[in-house]
Amino acid sequence: MCGIVGYIGHREAYPILVKGLYRLEYRGYDSAGIALLNGGVHLYKTHGKVRDLEEKVKDQDISGNTGIAHTRWATHGEPNEQNAHPHFSPSQKLAIIHNGIIENYAALREELTNRGYHFRSETDTEVLIHLIEDILLNEPMISNKVHQQDDPAGARARGVVREADMGMPEDTCQLVEAVRIALTQVVGAYAIVVVSEDHPDVLIAAKKGSPLVIGIGKGEFFIASDASPIVEYTKEVVYLDDEELAIIPRKGRLKLKTIRNQEKTPYVHQLEMQLSAIEKSGFPHFMLKEIFEQPRSIRDSMRGRLHAARGIVSLGGIIDYEQRFVNARRIIIVGCGTSWHAGLVGEYLFEDLARIPVEVEYASEFRYRNPIIYENDLVIAISQSGETADTLAAVELARSKGATIIGICNVVGSSIARATHAGSYTHAGPEIGVASTKAFTAQVTVLSLMALSIASKKGSIPKARLHQLLNELEHIPEKVERVLKTASVIQEISEIFKDVRNFLYLGRGYNFPLALEGALKLKEISYIHAEGYPAAEMKHGPIALIDENMPVVVIATRKGSYEKLLSNIQELKARKAVIIAIITEGDQVMRELADYIVEIPATDEIFVPLVATIPLQLLSYQIAVLRGCNVDQPRNLAKSVTVE
Ligand code: G6P
Repeated sequence: MCGIVGYIGHREAYPILVKGLYRLEYRGYDSAGIALLNGGVHLYKTHGKVRDLEEKVKDQDISGNTGIAHTRWATHGEPNEQNAHPHFSPSQKLAIIHNGIIENYAALREELTNRGYHFRSETDTEVLIHLIEDILLNEPMISNKVHQQDDPAGARARGVVREADMGMPEDTCQLVEAVRIALTQVVGAYAIVVVSEDHPDVLIAAKKGSPLVIGIGKGEFFIASDASPIVEYTKEVVYLDDEELAIIPRKGRLKLKTIRNQEKTPYVHQLEMQLSAIEKSGFPHFMLKEIFEQPRSIRDSMRGRLHAARGIVSLGGIIDYEQRFVNARRIIIVGCGTSWHAGLVGEYLFEDLARIPVEVEYASEFRYRNPIIYENDLVIAISQSGETADTLAAVELARSKGATIIGICNVVGSSIARATHAGSYTHAGPEIGVASTKAFTAQVTVLSLMALSIASKKGSIPKARLHQLLNELEHIPEKVERVLKTASVIQEISEIFKDVRNFLYLGRGYNFPLALEGALKLKEISYIHAEGYPAAEMKHGPIALIDENMPVVVIATRKGSYEKLLSNIQELKARKAVIIAIITEGDQVMRELADYIVEIPATDEIFVPLVATIPLQLLSYQIAVLRGCNVDQPRNLAKSVTVE
């Protein structure tokens, strides 16, 4: 939530910062702002999107080689210009951008207010920059040195100003110290960048809980919430760890220390991300591009792991932990949103194939309800971003109780990936559309591989069935490709139903999590109320809602509880419901029963979620487009939820 970008170097900062904001807009988009250093710190901010910011600054002087920029997802204070970042310090010599929440901001604000400070915004972030300046000016250890700078020659003669620790000039050290001390006083999560009029040759960044990446160019540095604004300039990046503070100079080397004042050596990673992966490549929306990428992304999730001909699955990332799966008393799967739905599919897979009891938990509930966790429990944390605050906290809780934690994340090097004992990346490539699509199918693919691998180790699945399933899994990308060709059928259905106010989604067995996911997709991007239900449960409530105005999407593929589902559909038809059914190709019975059908190729029951989710994604996408909704940036949502 909230995207932050910074630049220091020899180029004009503004174009780099604005482009970076566009790339990060998926993280939040209710207001945007920029601070450029050119003589003083010049601040431009606006309520609205990055393009509104561009409009606002179009006649302004936007030159400068250093700057910071922010796109916001509001937490403290409504989205308006006042609350938009960057925020100034009282003297307007310092400015800050921040992603996260300062939980003790009210107490800090009260203390600073009592000491005569005034605040222009309602944000927690402004409190932090006031605190930094207060420490800079009033902390005795620091302020004495600041005042000595009024007489630098004299001070030098007295030996007070020196090249201080880490090879930084004394006055830079003071600013770093002030930021560091302030951060020891805040409770909560932050990724911040600070710019200073008095220290134009340095940016200071720090992080705890929220992500921050620093790109190392030739005589220039880039800072961002993720690597997407950086990748076109450099492939060398440093991921900050929690409670690390970076001193980023215009010239010279990047320096790191912890907020407990320990020096650290930056570890430089090579980015593998390709620029094309974060561009729309001719598609009108990222969501559509990502839906159509699924044949490839599912293949990438299986690459080097599935050896169908040899009857083998090898997941290198968890190889040392497979015995723990085999011995696990139970598996607990934690996640949020779409990742939680993937977890539900995982429950069916692990119980069905590997015969291990599974509980699937919303991370936000799990972490606060004093859960019983045994040392021989195995916890699987699923997260596209690897940064979701509740999932991360659930991982930390389970780890502290001695459980083994396995991650299924998409973003390499993300916080959850690093907090787990081991894991398998989904390798879906960057997902930018706020509504998750290819990440879901990649998560389900990895869960399928894991369950099959453990089932094979445990001997809980007959060899012939294992071979048959591995062969079938290998063909799933082709089947997904075929389903994508039904887009025009779904377009016609979307036009008929675009104006309804409610939808019901039903499925049984492996298709029940899909009903939930289909309903979530529709809600997220078209703002139509939709509910997902196990088809048989419908009789215990939702059936009361049924009339001729209620479309019901039924995932009605053959196998599983097909016969039972037929009866459920009859019950709906008897009450005049309009049925849109996702059916197996050639199923004449369903074809006659349903009002509208989308056919998908036959596959094994356990892989239906990978194929049947595609028409549900397309249906929600096309309805949202027809309703004129902003598909990639639905209102109130953010892609990466780094606050509780
Ligand atoms: C947000 C996103 C969803 C996502 C959920 C969990 O709500 O809008 O698309 O499923 O967070 O995110 P994660 O990154 O942990 O999978």
